[in-house]
Amino acid sequence: MTNPSLLILPGDGIGPEVMAEVRKIIDWFGAKRGITFDVSEDLVGGCAYDKHGTPLHDDTMAKAQEVDAVLLGAVGGPKYDALDFSIKPERGLLRLRKEMDLYSNLRPAQCFDALADFSSLKKDVVAGLDIMIVRELTSGVYFGEPRGIFEEGNERVGINTQRYTESEIDRVARSAFELAMKRGKKLCSMEKANVMESGILWREVVTEVGKDYPEVELSHMYADAGAMQLTRWPKQFDVIVTDNLFGDLLSDLAAMLTGSLGMLPSASLGAPMDNGRPKALYEPVHGSAPDIAGQGKANPCACILSFAMALRYSFDMGDEATRLEQAVNAVLAQGIRTADLLNEEGITPATTAEMGDAVVAA
Ligand code: NAI
Ligand code: MG
Repeated sequence: MTNPSLLILPGDGIGPEVMAEVRKIIDWFGAKRGITFDVSEDLVGGCAYDKHGTPLHDDTMAKAQEVDAVLLGAVGGPKYDALDFSIKPERGLLRLRKEMDLYSNLRPAQCFDALADFSSLKKDVVAGLDIMIVRELTSGVYFGEPRGIFEEGNERVGINTQRYTESEIDRVARSAFELAMKRGKKLCSMEKANVMESGILWREVVTEVGKDYPEVELSHMYADAGAMQLTRWPKQFDVIVTDNLFGDLLSDLAAMLTGSLGMLPSASLGAPMDNGRPKALYEPVHGSAPDIAGQGKANPCACILSFAMALRYSFDMGDEATRLEQAVNAVLAQGIRTADLLNEEGITPATTAEMGDAVVAA
């Protein structure tokens, strides 16, 4: 059997700093588990622009299409703010998502016991929380035509179009059902079928796909009610599937139920490859954090937990993923925290490297 292959794109700002900690974990797998990843590393974002004049070189794009999984740090920074939109660092990331056709965006909201006090909600509402939002990422109102600002009579009109085809709904629904099968076998689909035709079609197609997954308990909820339920009693959910726009809002809402940006991983999945695994890009939700870059202050957990998602969803190593998540929890429980996880004064925060070392030790 060939080794699992991984393309690492550390990117800009704190990207390389947090990725260095993931490297320690990859090395640990080789040394302690005899699991060797074929790791290649390349440039994306501002650093790629500095070297090649483009935020993503064609060779890097080609490599991303071949590997089992891509792990990305973060892109962007003030140095590149004045660049033309077409060559901005973010375009490198957008190109990866588009050309890999990553239509299914996974955003977990998981509460680490040690951080239950850190939430803005009551502890018993979030303790033990573990839900997954699946957001459709390549269609819907952010892409639908017609769009634009037009003259109409003596005023202007701004138009965006919510548009979903059956096949677009079908494939993201399937991705969500597959996930539900690996988790608590419960899926809630959210749209606004009460006021939107695209929502009516969404509900019909998801229901139809559900017939292929009789073990999964499927429910439907209007997205506005879903937002209320997510803050009232989020533990009623396991997997939620929703469109691009509602998913943008609901995934940010759900993510903040449990705490800091420095803790949030994500995965973006596409169609299954020849080996049956989906095309996949894993990345922390946070950006390049120029305000703390180069100071050893960044929390590496979001990137480490993104790697845990890669273990689970690209490498069939769910048990190892769980162990890695438990290691992060154990480190937090020991009181080892980067500055973003401390709200009391007088405690010395752990550095990025100290946090990573502690996870490896745990
Ligand atoms: P950001 O996520 O980089 O930072 C927001 C705040 O959170 C900052 O105060 C930062 O210090 C803090 N923070 C972020 N990650 C952290 C971590 N791991 N540990 C501790 N603190 C952390 O978002 P911002 O400031 O809006 O954007 C900065 C740059 O990053 C911009 O160039 C933006 O375009 C880019 N960006 C890139 C993204 C990506 O690569 N996926 C996503 C979001 C922004
Ligand atoms: Mg958002």
